[in-house]
Amino acid sequence: MAIRTLRYEGDEILKKKSREIDVIDDKIKQLAEDMFDTMHKFDGLGLAGVQVGILKRIIVIDLYDNESKFVLINPVIVEKSKEKAEIQEGCLSFPNQFGKVERYVKVKVKALDLDGNKVTLEAEGLLAQALQHEIDHLDGITFKGKIIPGTFEIITPEDNED
Ligand code: NI
Repeated sequence: MAIRTLRYEGDEILKKKSREIDVIDDKIKQLAEDMFDTMHKFDGLGLAGVQVGILKRIIVIDLYDNESKFVLINPVIVEKSKEKAEIQEGCLSFPNQFGKVERYVKVKVKALDLDGNKVTLEAEGLLAQALQHEIDHLDGITFKGKIIPGTFEIITPEDNED
């Protein structure tokens, strides 16, 4: 178990575009494992390589429902629904910050898994939202820049406790 150092708001790396992964070697597999460990430690649903300082096109997602747990290499959105929705979002690189972002309700994503197999995901709801959020990270785009005016809020963990 290895927790990597998270990159936070103000770190210029979050604005950089990540590079495609040509070879899925042991280093990439270790990175994926560490990204899961890091994401789970901070209770995130998704994490992109850039958020641990690695400018490579890799994302991990875990919706904690025993089925939506993925490592995606070089993910690309190939289809989007016409319908969009305004949904509340947060990001491990922006602790305690939340806001509504417009996302496609459904997306189809093509990627490679850790074995180099081609995978296609047809996602809707929270999974579609998480995929769009993480793939944005790979292009240097964060949710903060997409927040619908008037919906931004800061929620500290104390406020969340009963
Ligand atoms: Ni994020």
